[in-house]
Amino acid sequence: MLQPTRLRCEYLVDAVGIDCLEPRLSWVLQTDHPDRRGERQTGWQIIVRRDAGAVAWNSGRVASDETAQIVYRGRLLEPCARYRWKVRVWDGAGRPSAWSLESSWTMGPWGPGWTNARANNDPRPAVPMNWIGEPLPATWNEREGQASPLLRREFTLPGPVRRAVVFASALGIYELHLNGRKVGDRALAPEWTDYHRRVQYQGYDVTGLLVSGPNAIGAMLAPGWFAGQLGLGGDFLAIKRGFYGRHLRFAAYLHAELESGTVVSVTTGPDWKVSMEGPIRSSDLLAGETYDARREVPGWDRPGYDDSRWIPVFCRMGPVLSAQPNEPIRVVTTLAPVALTEPSPGVFIYDLGQNFAGWVRMHLEGEHGAEVRFRHAEMLDADGRIYRDNLRLDPKDSRSGAQQEDRYVCRGNGEEVFEPRFTYHGFRYVEVTGLAYKPSLEDLEGRVVHSDATAAGEFSSSNALLDRIMRAIGWTQDSNLHGVPTDCPQRDERLGWAGDIQVFSQAAMFNRDMAGFFTKWLRDLREGQAADGRIPDFAPHALESEVRFSGNPGWGDAITVIPWRQYVTYGDRRILEESFESARRWLDWSERGNPDLLWRYRQQLTPIYGDWLNADTFKDIPGLPRKGGEVPKEVYATAWFAHSASLTARMAGVLGRTEDERRYADLSNRVTAAFNRAYVSKDGRIRGDTQAGYALALSFDLLPVRLRPIAARRMVAAFKRYHGALSTGFISTVRMMNELVRWGYAGEAYRLALRREMPSWGYMIDHGGTTIWERWDGWVEGRGFQNPSMNSFNHYAIGSVGEWVWRTVAGINPCEDEPGCRRVEIRPVPGGGLTETRAVWRTIRGPVGVAWQASRQVFEVEVSIPPNMRATVVLPTAAGSVVTEGAVPVAKAHGVRVLGRRQGTIRMDIGSGTYRFTVMQGKARA
Ligand code: BGC
Repeated sequence: MLQPTRLRCEYLVDAVGIDCLEPRLSWVLQTDHPDRRGERQTGWQIIVRRDAGAVAWNSGRVASDETAQIVYRGRLLEPCARYRWKVRVWDGAGRPSAWSLESSWTMGPWGPGWTNARANNDPRPAVPMNWIGEPLPATWNEREGQASPLLRREFTLPGPVRRAVVFASALGIYELHLNGRKVGDRALAPEWTDYHRRVQYQGYDVTGLLVSGPNAIGAMLAPGWFAGQLGLGGDFLAIKRGFYGRHLRFAAYLHAELESGTVVSVTTGPDWKVSMEGPIRSSDLLAGETYDARREVPGWDRPGYDDSRWIPVFCRMGPVLSAQPNEPIRVVTTLAPVALTEPSPGVFIYDLGQNFAGWVRMHLEGEHGAEVRFRHAEMLDADGRIYRDNLRLDPKDSRSGAQQEDRYVCRGNGEEVFEPRFTYHGFRYVEVTGLAYKPSLEDLEGRVVHSDATAAGEFSSSNALLDRIMRAIGWTQDSNLHGVPTDCPQRDERLGWAGDIQVFSQAAMFNRDMAGFFTKWLRDLREGQAADGRIPDFAPHALESEVRFSGNPGWGDAITVIPWRQYVTYGDRRILEESFESARRWLDWSERGNPDLLWRYRQQLTPIYGDWLNADTFKDIPGLPRKGGEVPKEVYATAWFAHSASLTARMAGVLGRTEDERRYADLSNRVTAAFNRAYVSKDGRIRGDTQAGYALALSFDLLPVRLRPIAARRMVAAFKRYHGALSTGFISTVRMMNELVRWGYAGEAYRLALRREMPSWGYMIDHGGTTIWERWDGWVEGRGFQNPSMNSFNHYAIGSVGEWVWRTVAGINPCEDEPGCRRVEIRPVPGGGLTETRAVWRTIRGPVGVAWQASRQVFEVEVSIPPNMRATVVLPTAAGSVVTEGAVPVAKAHGVRVLGRRQGTIRMDIGSGTYRFTVMQGKARA
């Protein structure tokens, strides 16, 4: 029997705060006979009720095999209302399943100030909205930031509550309190957007927190991205803080339905009060937080607190709010330290054993007023002290760079607990000073903080190095998901660099379910688009996008690559609808600036970054060539131009925009022709003769078919000059890895993946890396650290090789022409001496599993496919090899259809179920 589970609305489970009037629903099918083959769904029925009440939508039986992206087609959704829904499905034999467990979503409020979602002719009154805060930011200081305001008001509920929700947001970041408790477990809400245009709100179910009678609601605010430091800002604009404003503001709307049927609402407004006398004396995402426990205000968030000395808030209207579409940032897990040292008296260094993003929590004691300092770092120096040079600290300015320093001033009455809330750090080591005693290992723990996108991938193999690389990639991804995909979590940058996430996006989707996250961030990217069509190099674009940091090839192309992957991986057609116009404008701008279709004019405002951090950027590495790694910038940029035009044409095709499809396919063909004329010689040599150049041209299918194998050979030959090493930068590396496999050089790809000399992933791991480094030569034996002004040890771009591991080692590939994982291609290619691999990827249709064992003669592959998905299985064979499934020749195996044998492979089509394939090689395996 099939059973629909994991019901989600707009990618979220039981979301509170949906502001889209046609939300999309999904479920995952489970079967109680996982061994049964070819199970499929032939129909579904959805029933949605407005809370316990009237039916808002009864779809009736719909003949369809879709389990995701199902658009709600019921009655007009009401603000603040909760909708409960369930689904049942029909299987291949026409049998209905039982109804699923009920799931729910809750609409956000709407009206002026809240959201644009409601239908224009909806006559309902708008929710009045005020943004409140301190009348004048008295504690504002350009260098130090500002103290956290506390805000509060009380209200009375005339009876018991049936259901209550609060929607809240801030210009700044906030923590919401009700009756003495923090509401929810979010951190750093409302997260980062271009606050000039749009601010996100968050919703909370607070039914259990309210009582009949007096209640108190409160909030604590901090600068965050809105008013705090932002990376690059100091360098480029000579301003340190306050990019979007200095006046921290808070907005909330509480909607309580009482048992009696009465609805009570409480909103931010003039009846709130504010105090600047709370314990958080300053906080900043980059600088850190200072908490003075002597200034705690017991009871401020409970009813009955005497706030007569607090002052009335300042109120004004604010920007447009929209619901947060991505999973919250929160404390996701906790790390216990692995070592504690004392390099000099009173200086304690905890090693958390893992580089990560977040903060620490420490149980400590100190005298009244004693200050304990926490300084965070990724590495230790040669003397075992924390290495902080790569935080871009200027020794002449104690407030420069990303200080990553928290301070706690003790209350002084026994054990106290320090844990910051409005900052985060990228670190593995934390130095604690100011204690009058030697702390123990257990006193401190690491709190891992990031956007809590659901884990999707699990990988392990017989190769310990490969497993460690994969773990490091996972940690690097997690360290850089904070509402935006950041380049790094430690130095004063932490920007949503589009090139980095463009190359890493598929690896990211294998590791975690990124659909909600990318829905959010692609909005940021589109909002940063300049009037002339340039896509920003990072988003949100805190600097004016018309002026600088936009239009860079390989970075701007995130606007074609990521929506396309989101469509292929999750079947998200809406993201194409939302992104198409931006992609089109990006291509039109590219064409206008490059009339002969070769990208050689400096039309973008920053120089072309190119294949960033390729071998030409290595510092003092004897034995490797100084030049010759970097693909010439115009070759690089033109290749991207052709590729993005082709992706834009494909988007148009899906959307049924025939005219646009033709136009961009034609543009892509013309750019490709120009590329070949200008840069490719008859014998397949691409200008520059770089690994990267061949990798990009092959990956983008730019070369005439005849030249492709030749170019692949040249790509491999280009390793020679580097004594077998890669010379690629972070944009081309994973493309090269994939092309090596595609053109028959899987052995070379495995060799690179498992290599241990610099440059390689193995080198990072062997030298202490627990996350992926920004630069291949971030630290090199004998030479030491690279230039500290740009040397992060937690950058995922080079970790994009995770995509290759999933596609080649695990062998799991979403299929472009059957998006949303209706079909996956299972194509494991054994190599590198691996004897075993085990992988599970949880797709939007359910978990796909591949486990294989390889010996010289036998390749055994277990494939499991969830109900309602099909797979094309491609296994390597040699002449004379015998392929069986469950001991039966594949041609006779139940549920297996052999599609054919070609080029040393056998291709088969299967439906759901678990299959055990064995390839007995006739000769040595290809
Ligand atoms: C960032 C990168 C980014 C690059 C753009 C760096 O400072 O850390 O990862 O893509 O700038 O050139």
